[in-house]
Amino acid sequence: MSIESNSKTEKAAFTSLLPIFAFIKPYKKRVASALLALVLTAMVSLSLGQGVKYVIDSGFIAGSQEQLTQAILVLIGLISLLAVGTFCRFYLMSWLGERVSGDIRKAVFKQIVALHPSYFEENRSGELMSRLTTDTVLLQSIVGSSFSMALRSGFMLIGALVMLFVTNLKLTLIVLTTLPLVLLPMMLYGRRVRNLAASSQDAIADVGTYAGEIIQNIKVVQSYTREEAEHQAFSGEVEKAFEIAKHRVWQRSLLIAGVIFLTFAAISAMLWSGGTDVLNGKMSGGDLGAFVFYAIMVAMSVATVAEVYGELQRAAGAATRLLELLKVQSDIKESSLPITMPVDHPQAISLEQIDFYYPSRPDKAALRDINLSIPKGKIVALVGPSGAGKTTLFELLQRFYDPQQGQVKFKGIDISNIALTELRQSMGLVSQQPVLFSTNVYNNIAYGKPDATKEEVIAAAKRAHADEFIEQLPDGYQSFLGEQGVRLSGGQKQRIALARAILKDPEILLLDEATSALDAESEHHVQAALNELMKDRTTLIIAHRLSTVLHADIIVVMDQGKVVDSGTHHSLLESSTLYRRLCELQFEQA
Ligand SMILES: Nc1ncnc2c1ncn2[C@@H]1O[C@H](COP(=O)(O)OP(=O)(O)OP(=O)(O)O)[C@@H](O)[C@H]1O
Ligand SMILES: [Mg+2]
Repeated sequence: MSIESNSKTEKAAFTSLLPIFAFIKPYKKRVASALLALVLTAMVSLSLGQGVKYVIDSGFIAGSQEQLTQAILVLIGLISLLAVGTFCRFYLMSWLGERVSGDIRKAVFKQIVALHPSYFEENRSGELMSRLTTDTVLLQSIVGSSFSMALRSGFMLIGALVMLFVTNLKLTLIVLTTLPLVLLPMMLYGRRVRNLAASSQDAIADVGTYAGEIIQNIKVVQSYTREEAEHQAFSGEVEKAFEIAKHRVWQRSLLIAGVIFLTFAAISAMLWSGGTDVLNGKMSGGDLGAFVFYAIMVAMSVATVAEVYGELQRAAGAATRLLELLKVQSDIKESSLPITMPVDHPQAISLEQIDFYYPSRPDKAALRDINLSIPKGKIVALVGPSGAGKTTLFELLQRFYDPQQGQVKFKGIDISNIALTELRQSMGLVSQQPVLFSTNVYNNIAYGKPDATKEEVIAAAKRAHADEFIEQLPDGYQSFLGEQGVRLSGGQKQRIALARAILKDPEILLLDEATSALDAESEHHVQAALNELMKDRTTLIIAHRLSTVLHADIIVVMDQGKVVDSGTHHSLLESSTLYRRLCELQFEQA
């Protein structure tokens, strides 16, 4: 399943917002208090109109200083109540918005990190990021403000309408017939502006993605002297975003001007008509004041509801995308009744008639008819030309993918029946491209065993021959490594990755070209450390440099997804032409 981009699902059904309530449910009490505050403030706002009337009629018109003072005191009382109520409503609702969007963000992240790796081959990481950031922010604004704004405006709209009728029937009818004339064009135009705002946001996101990729690969850009070309391309993106923004700003300016003109024209008309009535003694000045107050309230409420309506629509789109993501099931199914691996079993790993195709390449088998049996405590080397399927085999062992055909067994148990954590905890991997996180050396080594003591971490680093260079870093083990460990050499990164695997002390060690980036001398040392580590431990090594695998108990020769031969170095020299050729090529040069 892929994720659609922002603009496409703009008009999702509001029902897609419903699942959000599941996230709001834990905070029922706060919601109730917020609603209470909301109703209270709406009622106080409505009563302000009566306050206005009182001030005008009993103060100004009656010409009484005393009554004016009294009226103003009542007004101040009401406004204080309004302030307190608004504080509660705003705080509680915004709190709720932040809380809920935080919870959703956590839920989405938890979901993402548990998904099968092929999901990330189909979905760009940038899009997943924007689910976590942009979409959750949209929902935050819904829960935190739009929803309460809609509720409050709806409530006030009804209240103000009732008050209008109560105050003056004739004027109300005039207002109700002219109101649509003012509001309708504003709403239609407003929607257009909002859609432009959405595409403007998308354009900005594109600019960000573009810059991100360039900055991450700055050395390649500079090495191929593409700075100017990238600058041009980036400028293109920025200009596109500017054009969209310019269009939006123009429309928005028109909208604002229109709103101001229409609103004041309508109010003036109302004042004229009402003023005439006051002059003729058909209506009190206070009633007119209150009337104008309620009329403005009606107009503002309608405008707010209309605006929020558009926002709710966009949020529904965001909610749809997020919930889609929350519904994705990992292709790697956990067994509901996992079997615990026996402590002892003569056969560490066996692969039986494995056929495997990568989901993104269903027509070409990455592994074909693989049968392998790896006894406990032995060292098995996988050799073969590039693209033979060696790394793929490691991926299957760790259950990043399930084979279409056949079974992978650990200690005689099909790995789909073993709990994923137990399975993966039994393995330690040093991958072909060492992966480091942007934290310090210490945390990088302790990644697989966060509760390790300092001594254990240092011991692991020593065994990986990393201690020496780590001590020379500016802050030793506390040195920050930069994003993806950019501050280290290839061989240094590899040794940290090795230390990480050594610290984990796994039952099975998977080494994918683990020493390929080391110079001859460090390789010699690391190899010595590895030899000790591999003692009594089931180990699978992938290596192009055959000298490192000469002493393996079993060497498995792979080519084009198949196991073509296996045996010891000497037996293979006799039996396998491919192995002989690989050897000749390497040892002749040496
Ligand atoms: N994620 C993937 N999606 C689709 N095809 C893939 C994927 N990863 C690898 N392949 C393909 O599967 C085949 C085996 O790849 P694999 O990485 O296992 O080779 P390898 O033996 O480890 O090679 P090397 O020695 O170069 O590391 C290759 O043809 C490769 O293009
Ligand atoms: Mg590989």
